[in-house]
Amino acid sequence: MLRPLLITAALLVAGCSQPEDPQTGKTAPQATPAQKVESPKASGDLPESGVDYHSFANPDQFRVQHLALDLAVDFAQKELSGTATLELEKKAAGATELRLDTRDLDIRLAQALQGDNWQDTSFELKTADPHLGAALVVQVPDGARSVRIEYATAPGASGVQWLTPAQTAGRQHPFLFTQAQAIHARSFVPIQDTPQVRFSYEAVIRTPEPLRAVMSAELNEEKSSAGEYHFAMPQAIPSYLLALAVGDLEFKPMGARTGVWAEPSMLEAAVREFEDTEDMLEATEKVYGKYRWDRYDLLILPPSFPFGGMENPRLSFITPTVIAGDKSLVALIAHELAHSWSGNLVTNASWRDLWLNEGFTTYLTNRIMEFVFGNDRYRMEMAMGYDDLLADIKDREDRDEIMAIDLRGRDPDEVFSNIPYEKGSLFLYEIENKIGREAFDQFLLGYFDHFAFKSITTEDFLEYLDKTLLADHADKLDRARIEEWIFKPGLPAGAPEPRSDAFVPVEEQRAQWLDGKLAADAIDTSGWTFHHWKVFLDGMPEKLSSEQLAALDKALDLTAVKNNEVAASWLKIAVRNQYQPAYQRLEDFLTSIGRNKFLRPLYRALVESGQQQLAQEIFEKAKGGYHPLSVKVNSQIVYDQ
Ligand code: BES
Ligand code: ZN
Repeated sequence: MLRPLLITAALLVAGCSQPEDPQTGKTAPQATPAQKVESPKASGDLPESGVDYHSFANPDQFRVQHLALDLAVDFAQKELSGTATLELEKKAAGATELRLDTRDLDIRLAQALQGDNWQDTSFELKTADPHLGAALVVQVPDGARSVRIEYATAPGASGVQWLTPAQTAGRQHPFLFTQAQAIHARSFVPIQDTPQVRFSYEAVIRTPEPLRAVMSAELNEEKSSAGEYHFAMPQAIPSYLLALAVGDLEFKPMGARTGVWAEPSMLEAAVREFEDTEDMLEATEKVYGKYRWDRYDLLILPPSFPFGGMENPRLSFITPTVIAGDKSLVALIAHELAHSWSGNLVTNASWRDLWLNEGFTTYLTNRIMEFVFGNDRYRMEMAMGYDDLLADIKDREDRDEIMAIDLRGRDPDEVFSNIPYEKGSLFLYEIENKIGREAFDQFLLGYFDHFAFKSITTEDFLEYLDKTLLADHADKLDRARIEEWIFKPGLPAGAPEPRSDAFVPVEEQRAQWLDGKLAADAIDTSGWTFHHWKVFLDGMPEKLSSEQLAALDKALDLTAVKNNEVAASWLKIAVRNQYQPAYQRLEDFLTSIGRNKFLRPLYRALVESGQQQLAQEIFEKAKGGYHPLSVKVNSQIVYDQ
């Protein structure tokens, strides 16, 4: 069980280097050798539940309730500039300072609303921490309830990517998009950048014509005109769901509540690929409760988008690499849609609790895929998720296999893995198996409703579980086992092992081919979708001969494969075995796609197989087109940092 811990001690234990304690704002005392504890594990200490170690904000003093943005977009300077007006709720009688998170922001002025007048107020930008950015401390005069910050972003802002026309589908206009999760909202808005604080927002975005702005909010068409877009988000959201994109964008509806925003040349293909979105939405709300965000649209981004998808409310941001032509990768849409319940409605209170967002969402994704595409598809998706989980458990350190992960002193971007997703989902699947689907669906419906628009910790979840399922199903569920799932590495003994019959012939043929009993051109791939191809390739041994690879490539045309997931699996095999005929495709792939899920394993495979120099050469060519996040994590891989 968790035990409370002094925050200052926690920071010292984690060896955090920030000049200030993010929670108290006090300068953390220097650790003397006598005070220093070697590692959190050695001391048995645990992070404190509900403490966000990745924010300097002080919501216990002042809490942001509403944000109003007025920003101009300057592509030449790569700068967003304007004002952020924050409406505050005073939480402590004697509070005088508002502490915000910032990263590389140029803070020009702070004002406070006193009566009807905006008056300048003093502010201080503290020394920056490498992971967390810099605290901005603003004096709030007695009685003031709104603060306005005039600021500009840096060209290299970690949460913004500025694209040249050449990096877009249309090649005519520049493009920009933000990616705030986990702690990058602070690089484009001075804000309490912690998922514990929820606020409504409105925005005016001034764009160079003919470029259009879209946000994770409702567009106010009446107020908007070319070059000036007005938005409102009436539902309270955490800062990591703030999102903006600007480009040559058009809209096409898919259903009553769903549609696609994309560059004109991508629009038709995207609408065709994702035409089942409306059905997904309807099926999900039937089981898990009403959809609470009015619209659900998709924004198709250029290929440098560093994720597969991002669940920005009302408008999920989607990589174009899932437009496969055969709907084989639409589980990604189900996933981002599912976040409308798990994540956006019921939100993790800190990044330690990310599994509450991603584990529940992965469980829901599988269920949505079954609602819309049937049981065979459901089983395939589950089995593949399970394979990903086993691979991660094999590769990761014990401390990173814990669902309620200890991130003190670490950058959440660098700890990203399948564990919160697939272990979280498997945990929920076990509960479902034990108490039955109907009872579990009923529980989830109640859970989403009970915690709607709240940010919760792992411990809040456990407390709720105690009162609900653990009380009602005491004969089937066991608190100790649940804690083992959440707080221990690996998997509990007897955990479910999802499998799909669809993969049996795939695995058999792979084994026969490896044994030399089946020729490559005799492999029967009829009816294979991306799922079968990926399972076929990912189950290959590390080492294959160049004859084997050439035969496989000739028979199955793998180097030319269109599906990006399959290409990534094949290229990883090619890299591990230095199969040169695939290297041009490898370079094309790494220089045209910025999705980290693909980049990281390929750069890692290059480095691990003694091809670090090639990794560096390709990275240097490609990095100008990568998002700042992809640059950061992959440069660490190719330069061993
Ligand atoms: N919210 C995540 C992306 C994310 C997580 C960004 C943590 C930053 C920090 C999004 O919903 C997601 O999980 N995307 C996956 C989708 C996949 C699991 C279907 C991705 O991008 O690959
Ligand atoms: Zn997700």
